[in-house]
Amino acid sequence: MSALDPTNPTSSLSSAEVGSDPHSYARPEEIRVRHIGLSWTVSFEERRLAGSATLWVERRDREAPLVLDTRDLEIERVEAGRLPGAVAEGEVPRLAEVQDVAWSEAAWAVGEPDAVLGQALSVTLPPDADLARIHYRTGPEATGLQWLGPRQTADGTDPFLYSQSQAIHARSWIPCQDSPGVRVTYDAVVRVPQTEASKDRVALMSARSEDRADHPAGEHRFVMPQPIPAYLIALAVGRVEFEALGDRSGVWAEPSVRARAAAELADVERMMAVAESLYGPYRWERYDVLVLPPAFPFGGMENPRLTFATPTILAGDRSLISLVAHELAHSWSGNLVTNATWDDLWLNEGFTVYIERRIVEALYGEGRARMEAMLGRQDLEDELARLHEPGDSRLSVDLRGRDPDDGMSDVAYEKGALFLRELEEGYGRDAFDPFIRRWFDEHAFTSVDSEEFEGFLERELVSVAEPRPGARPARPDAWIHGEGVPPGAPAPSSDAFAKVDEALAAFGAGKTGARALPTEGWTPHQWLHFLRGLPAELPAASLAELDAAYSLTASSNYEILAQWLELGVLRDYRAVDERLEQFLHTVGRRKFLLPLYEALLSADRRADAERIYAQARAGYHPITRHSLDRLLAGDGPS
Ligand code: BES
Ligand code: ZN
Repeated sequence: MSALDPTNPTSSLSSAEVGSDPHSYARPEEIRVRHIGLSWTVSFEERRLAGSATLWVERRDREAPLVLDTRDLEIERVEAGRLPGAVAEGEVPRLAEVQDVAWSEAAWAVGEPDAVLGQALSVTLPPDADLARIHYRTGPEATGLQWLGPRQTADGTDPFLYSQSQAIHARSWIPCQDSPGVRVTYDAVVRVPQTEASKDRVALMSARSEDRADHPAGEHRFVMPQPIPAYLIALAVGRVEFEALGDRSGVWAEPSVRARAAAELADVERMMAVAESLYGPYRWERYDVLVLPPAFPFGGMENPRLTFATPTILAGDRSLISLVAHELAHSWSGNLVTNATWDDLWLNEGFTVYIERRIVEALYGEGRARMEAMLGRQDLEDELARLHEPGDSRLSVDLRGRDPDDGMSDVAYEKGALFLRELEEGYGRDAFDPFIRRWFDEHAFTSVDSEEFEGFLERELVSVAEPRPGARPARPDAWIHGEGVPPGAPAPSSDAFAKVDEALAAFGAGKTGARALPTEGWTPHQWLHFLRGLPAELPAASLAELDAAYSLTASSNYEILAQWLELGVLRDYRAVDERLEQFLHTVGRRKFLLPLYEALLSADRRADAERIYAQARAGYHPITRHSLDRLLAGDGPS
């Protein structure tokens, strides 16, 4: 790119110029952003953040422009400057509202918008500059932010804002090098305008809070001293309250949800202790969980220091708490050691599912861990059967030219976890656990790819440890680069599920009526297994019998409820319809919504699907909308 004209910000940047991360325009090998200072005013009326991002950069090629990722940002102007004074090793600069900088206008230009990648922002910096300040505001449709009206919250009193940056949505609210291979520290000042009605609104970030009593009301300060990739920068603003769980953990939730959330999450400290005993110290000081309104498109998001979670895990009996074990596990796999590009998502998610099950086993016993492993295995088989491209069944995939949100599948999660389980069984925990711990220690705060793991596996496990007698030696190539699940992979089994299978056989054959089923003492996991195992040809009358006996349509366990509603639609059991509509109007979790809308389509109820979607769409997150738009348009995989 040459001669940039600041008055004509339309120069174009072709995707051929994209660097080693196919989902980022940034060129960190030329200039690397080290720290971001963020300063925003939050406007719920306009649904925008307005302010500036100040980037401290390390220039490796003094000639090269600073190329950033953006999407739908309204950029007002860009300035260049020099950091006042040196930053000592291990120190974090405070740049959100840095003073004493002699700013000069910088030339900048944005490239052609790309539907997946957004737009490159290219800034020309004078030779001696190491700061760039971008004055901007976010677009009202920023894909990384969801602005909720009061009616979409549990308490219904205040609006709510939260971010979801993974995979490549940080660029829609922060101009940055939006690649998981680039880590930054950050600091922020967030202003939430104060009125009598809004004075209870709190701002939270994936960072250490630096709020002090002498700061102006409504002004929140943060610093994140550990370097993290942009997809882990997170913000939430709403009327939430805090409850401590332990010395270094707690929960944030809307007032009416707080006590229920704290009770559900009571095991968090024990989870941390288990993870630390296996994989070394927790390196993020605090672990808090923010329970969001139900529109949240995911189950959980591992924003460092502050996991974001759906309220649909609050089952009242801690049965869905493995999701928190999962997000906590990301404090090692993902946040400490990060996939360098989205092609290797399995290094984040496969490791995390593996660790999640180790935590569940330590806290709730092997039986429960096995049930969860079996449910996961079933998810994987279903996913493999649905994949359109066989290449997508590899752990290391090629997502060039595709939206990383679309490349997200159970393969990275469950096939990844199964691979690690095979290594664990092959070499024994005595060798395998310290091996994984070394992986984290030696790659802490860096980003890695599959090749790096293959080398480490060979050096640190295969060449120094013997497989256990009769066990299979490591076969990384088959797992990482081969399609599907290699034959002879670990096959989890569960006695508790075997009992359910007996009941299923008796019920399916008509030998046992619904009321006579031996369901006494069944856990929610067993119920899930039961519902998933019901024969395809089961008539609606049998569902009615089950419902009469077990009140499934009224279930308050969202995993069971979603499974049941899907069954109801598929088997034309219309008594679920009302609950289904209510569900589709309140819950935004994509994992639940996609199968439910798909079920409506496959049950020849397109008109119902379209009617409900037309009403509910405005309340769904942009990511959920994107998937559902494609599903309802019949555009294949979503
Ligand atoms: N990091 C993921 C969520 C994610 C992945 C968002 C890829 C965007 C792109 C998070 O840790 C996760 O895996 N959440 C799961 C729950 C988990 C228990 C499997 C979810 O949201 O369902
Ligand atoms: Zn995860």
